[in-house]
Amino acid sequence: MVDNSATLRSRIDELKREKNAVILAHYYTTPEVQQVADFLGDSLALSVQAQQVDADIILFAGVHFMAETAKVLCPQKKVLIPCPEAGCSLAESCDARDFAAFKARYPDHTVVSYVNTTVEVKALTDICCTSSNALRVVESIPADRPIIFAPDRNLGGYIQKLTGRRNMILWDGACHVHEEFSLEKLLQLKAQHPAAKVVVHPECRAYIIAVADYVGSTAGILDYCGRSDAEEFIVVTEAGILAEMQRRYPAKRFIPAPPDDETCGCNNCKYMKMVTLENICACLENESPEIVLDEEVRKRAERSIRNMIAIR
Ligand code: 13P
Repeated sequence: MVDNSATLRSRIDELKREKNAVILAHYYTTPEVQQVADFLGDSLALSVQAQQVDADIILFAGVHFMAETAKVLCPQKKVLIPCPEAGCSLAESCDARDFAAFKARYPDHTVVSYVNTTVEVKALTDICCTSSNALRVVESIPADRPIIFAPDRNLGGYIQKLTGRRNMILWDGACHVHEEFSLEKLLQLKAQHPAAKVVVHPECRAYIIAVADYVGSTAGILDYCGRSDAEEFIVVTEAGILAEMQRRYPAKRFIPAPPDDETCGCNNCKYMKMVTLENICACLENESPEIVLDEEVRKRAERSIRNMIAIR
C-alpha cells in the first residue's frame, strides 16, 4: 500500500491556511491525526478552545458530540466533522426523549450531564460537566438540592463517592471502552510492574478505580504522569492517549491496560479511530459535512455548557 500521509498532511496545511481553518483534536484520535491538529486536548479544554479560536472554520477531529459542542458555542463559525458517523456509546445510551420522560419524574432535581451527550440532552440539562470538572460542578450545587447525573453511571458513582452525596440519581449509561478493562489482568500487570503507578479515567468501573493511584480526565492523567517521580505507568483509558504521553515524556514508560477480551482491541475507541487524514482532507476541501443545529435547541444547550465553563 502506498503511504500518502505526507501528501495529505501538506494538503491539509494548505487548506487550513487558504480557508482560515483550525483543527481541534482529542487525545484519543490516532497519532497522525493528532499531528495535524492546531489544538490537542481533553473535552473541557477543547470546548474552551472552540470559543476562543480566531478562525472561520473549526474542523473537529473527534466524535460527533464534541463537534456539536463547538457549534453550540460558536454558532457563527462553520464547524466541520470529518466523519459524522463517529458517535459515542455514552451519548447513544441517553436518548433525548427517554431522558425528558425521566427528568419529568424528578421535577425538583438539578440536571447535570456529562458533555458526552447529544445537543438535545444538553438542552434538557442545567449544567454540563466533563471528567475534569465533574466534582467541582456537583459541589457547586447546594448539598440539599437533589441531582440527576447523566449519562455515565461510573463517573456519577465516583463523584457520589467523593462527595458522599446520597441525593444523586444516576442514568444507566456507560462507555464501551472504559467498561471493558479487566481487573484480573490489571492486577497481573501491577504484579509484573510493582513500581508502576496505575492511572485511571473515571469512566471505568468502581472496582478498577479502587486500585488506581490517580483518577482523572485525559488531561489530568497527562499532568499527573509528568508530576510523578515514577518511571512507569499502567494506563487505564483509551489507548490513543499513549502517543501524547510518549511524546511529552519520552524517558517514561507507559503500559496500556488490557481489556477483558484482548482480541477485540476494545481499549481503542472505534469511533475516534474513524477520523483519518483522508476524511479530514476531503472535509476541508468540500467544507462538508458540517454541523447544523436547530437554533432553539442550540440556545438551550448553550446555557448548560456556559454554566459548565463558568465553573472550570
Ligand atoms: P476527557 O476528555 O474529559 O478526559 O474524556 C473524554 C471522553 O470522552 C472519555 O470517553
